[in-house]
Amino acid sequence: MSTDSYDLIIENGTAVLPWGEASADIGVRNGKIAAIGKNLGPARETFNAAGLHVLPGIIDPHVHFRDGGEGGIPGVEDMRSGSLAAVLGGVTTALDMPNTKPPTVDAATVKLKYDYIPGHTYCDFGFYAGATKENADYVGTLEDMPGVCAVKVFAGSSTGDLLVEDDASIERVLRGSRHLVAFHAEDEYRLRERRPRFSVGDPYASHAEWRDPECAALGTRRVTALARKTNKRAHILHVSTIDEFAFIRENKDIISAEVLVNHLLQIGPEAYERLGGYAVMNPPIRSQEHVNAAWAAIADGTADTIASDHAPHSKESKERPWPTCHSGLTGVQTMLPLMLTQVNAGRLSLMRLVDLMSAGPARIYGAVGKGRIAAGYDADFSIVDMNAKRKIENSMIASQCGWTPFAGTQCTAWPMATIIRGTVVMFEGTVPGEPLGQVIKFRK
Ligand code: DOR
Ligand code: ZN
Repeated sequence: MSTDSYDLIIENGTAVLPWGEASADIGVRNGKIAAIGKNLGPARETFNAAGLHVLPGIIDPHVHFRDGGEGGIPGVEDMRSGSLAAVLGGVTTALDMPNTKPPTVDAATVKLKYDYIPGHTYCDFGFYAGATKENADYVGTLEDMPGVCAVKVFAGSSTGDLLVEDDASIERVLRGSRHLVAFHAEDEYRLRERRPRFSVGDPYASHAEWRDPECAALGTRRVTALARKTNKRAHILHVSTIDEFAFIRENKDIISAEVLVNHLLQIGPEAYERLGGYAVMNPPIRSQEHVNAAWAAIADGTADTIASDHAPHSKESKERPWPTCHSGLTGVQTMLPLMLTQVNAGRLSLMRLVDLMSAGPARIYGAVGKGRIAAGYDADFSIVDMNAKRKIENSMIASQCGWTPFAGTQCTAWPMATIIRGTVVMFEGTVPGEPLGQVIKFRK
């Protein structure tokens, strides 16, 4: 084989390169991008991307696949079904949260998840080590283990029992951190104090009144002060309120920010009336002015990443009365078509989408070889049709729980193919091959 031959050439597409859109072909050799240009020469396989946009592989930096390496929760999710949903939705890498079964909180459970991923997942993976009050002094050492993208702190309680709510313990976690601590920052004390104001069976919209904007803002201010005190960086997950965005803008030297698709596209109280328990998540769906603030953070660069916070639960548990219904919404399969639709609606550029959904996560977490179409990087691509009109339906959802809060939503663009390290894993809605996902590396 001559040196100018390729395993795969993606031709005739519009490539979204870090320096702009270009009508360029992409040559792939040994799973990596080997050349970008025209008339690249012979290839074993060609992918005709005529009429399509070739994006760098989309990274969902916040999923809950439930599976700690023992098969997940039957009927809800496991690594196989969650990663199948990912590649169907054009996502090439997912970063999995630690509130799995079993929780990923020590060297043994980090190794369990790491060893389990090959052979069980369709997309590539990194995963978080979960902080607890017990491991607060050494959880930072887990960041040195392969596959770990960051430490996750639940400073406010959510699904599962991982919780580190007090300043002294959060400070211990930050002091021991070697790379990055990511926070669910809602303030646990304010959550506890406000809970007695509400009763079982209150409207689902009560969720957003209980976990009010001040719960999130207070938590983010506390975490930022502790990051400042310990001279560490912190990543605030699912930033959702006006005050948080304003505050983060003032502290951008040490704080990075994630925004969720649900906080951009769902608006309370209307969403609660329409979706009932299928609108319940933490932090909650907010009112219009907070949604506007989230879009402003997309527009001015305050937001570094967009995530789904994919959090599947059984239909039965979502349909219980508030607050016994479980919190969390699926989203890994729908986030790219939904955000591409926002590009077509003129709310952000395709370049900014790629910055938030591929380059941004790679930069924040230090994902090696990901997030850019550039020579030497992994040949991960999300190939999308910016003119494909499709409606999201529950029947499309590969997550075992089988529902999406966006059922019935019309999209104006759609992922047509997902390529991971040079292999076409999804083509026009089918995933013909075996799970070939791998654990990725992080620069630390
Ligand atoms: O709504 C949520 N669901 N928020 C979280 O923080 C956790 C997630 C889950 O795991 O269900
Ligand atoms: Zn989450």
